Amino acid sequence: MSVMKVSSQPIRGQKPGTSGLRKKVQEFIGEHYLENFVQSIFNAMGECGGRVLVIGGDGRYHNREAVQVIVRMALANGFRRLLIGQGGLLSTPAASCLIRKYGADGGIILSASHNPGGPDGDFGIKFNGANGGPASEAVSAAICQASVVIDHYLITDSPDINLDSPGEHTVGDATVEIIDPVADYAELMESLFDFPKIEHLLQQGGFTLCFDAMHAVTGPYAVEILERRLGAQPGTVINGVPLEDFGGGHPDPNLVHATELVRRMRGDKPPDFGAASDGDGDRNMVLGSSLFINPCDSLAVLTANAHRVPGYRNGLAGVARSMPTSPAVDRVAAALDIPCYETPTGWKFFGNLMDADKITLCGEESFGTGSSHVREKDGLWAVLFWLNLVAELNQSADTIVREHWQRFGRDYFTRHDYEEVPAQQAEALMDELRQQLPSLPGRSSHGHTIVAADDFSYTDPVDGSVSHSQGLRLQFGNGERIVLRLSGTGTSGATLRLYANSHEPDPDMLGIDTGKALASLLAAADTIAGISRHLGRDGPDVIT
Ligand code: G6P
Ligand code: ZN
Repeated sequence: MSVMKVSSQPIRGQKPGTSGLRKKVQEFIGEHYLENFVQSIFNAMGECGGRVLVIGGDGRYHNREAVQVIVRMALANGFRRLLIGQGGLLSTPAASCLIRKYGADGGIILSASHNPGGPDGDFGIKFNGANGGPASEAVSAAICQASVVIDHYLITDSPDINLDSPGEHTVGDATVEIIDPVADYAELMESLFDFPKIEHLLQQGGFTLCFDAMHAVTGPYAVEILERRLGAQPGTVINGVPLEDFGGGHPDPNLVHATELVRRMRGDKPPDFGAASDGDGDRNMVLGSSLFINPCDSLAVLTANAHRVPGYRNGLAGVARSMPTSPAVDRVAAALDIPCYETPTGWKFFGNLMDADKITLCGEESFGTGSSHVREKDGLWAVLFWLNLVAELNQSADTIVREHWQRFGRDYFTRHDYEEVPAQQAEALMDELRQQLPSLPGRSSHGHTIVAADDFSYTDPVDGSVSHSQGLRLQFGNGERIVLRLSGTGTSGATLRLYANSHEPDPDMLGIDTGKALASLLAAADTIAGISRHLGRDGPDVIT
């Protein structure tokens, strides 16, 4: 095996976004594109000699080819040991689990998360550090910096590794291990949750479940854990075979894209509980038999009941949520008398808090929930947590949520996405609103009066780093709030996200339709931010 030094030059736009580098597949398969970025990761890591790397992806189009390239580059850069999920597959939370369990120096995960796949879809690559979490802002900046000065990369001429045959291969001085992508993760889940109790619920309790893997990476994980280990009926997991194009679907677990699950939940005999996960297995949507459980509420309910689950029986160090997420969990944290942190959007901000033992649970409105068991959000973990609660409390998920609202009040929450907006229009809207911020307090629209307005900045309480411009916040009276920010995960044009939430303490007002509850607040947002005026659109593309 010989190492080749291949001349290259910087390629524009290799700047990681909210969650790694995401582009159209066609851009990724361009000459040197993947190689440049991977070498930039290695250059940012510093000396790679003797180090250990985890590699895997969500199985989307180009996954296998990319794994082979990364293996050859890792060997050329001197890594000592590579751990690769069989078939090139690893869910994002499983990759995080492996990095931590085997003391790896980091991992490369190939995924564009919930974005569509296939030859015309998206591809992505993320680097996670030794704590198993997404690269911090500083590391992402170092990778980007390396990508703009790159002049060569290293790659071996070794043959392709057989990704389908488990076991150890020796290549030169290095060991390449093809490992079961599910086993370590399933073991971790068993250590956190009361499997015998969930098993009893699923087998003797007559409780029915439908898990939509959306033809993405969680299929094998869900089949192994839910059907094989917990004994759920065969067929509980639907769309369970990972496909390179996700069966033509959009692997985003929400009411718009998880169509088959939604159809079953709205059918004549709905299952007692429904759930879905995304392309790389870190997101979750959970549904009671007659209730969509908003991710913000899900985090609040899990926090309030964590002591009922074995892995969290000793209490929580604290909790955190991203800024646009509703403050439902804040009320629970106050009742439990534990700290609650408000971070910018992006899982990377939770890592420092977990490493410093400041938080145990965290979550985001974008269908992300997780804990310090790994350093990523974790879709299947959230589903198991809910099943454990249902089994423990002997109540339906719907009842658990409704009783939670009775106790804490309900935080109505919605997000409106305006997708593929010309970047200039989106920036003009944000700039105009940003300039108005100082004069907004006191202004009223549609019966709502602004009491405070700012551009969110976050100072990391652990390392003191500051992240500016993380979203425009308009705080109204009565706990109502509007947030506007531009997505950091899209691949074409800009996506404007408009978030709205309000708090309702009146026990008689907890069952209102969310759209109705927030209609006038959203109308106020449109007037104040000039959304339809700037974008020339009648309404959002997706409402969650
Ligand atoms: C990914 C990240 C999340 C983030 C979400 C939406 O899933 O891991 O942390 O909340 O994307 O990010 P965006 O910038 O598109 O709103
Ligand atoms: Zn994801």
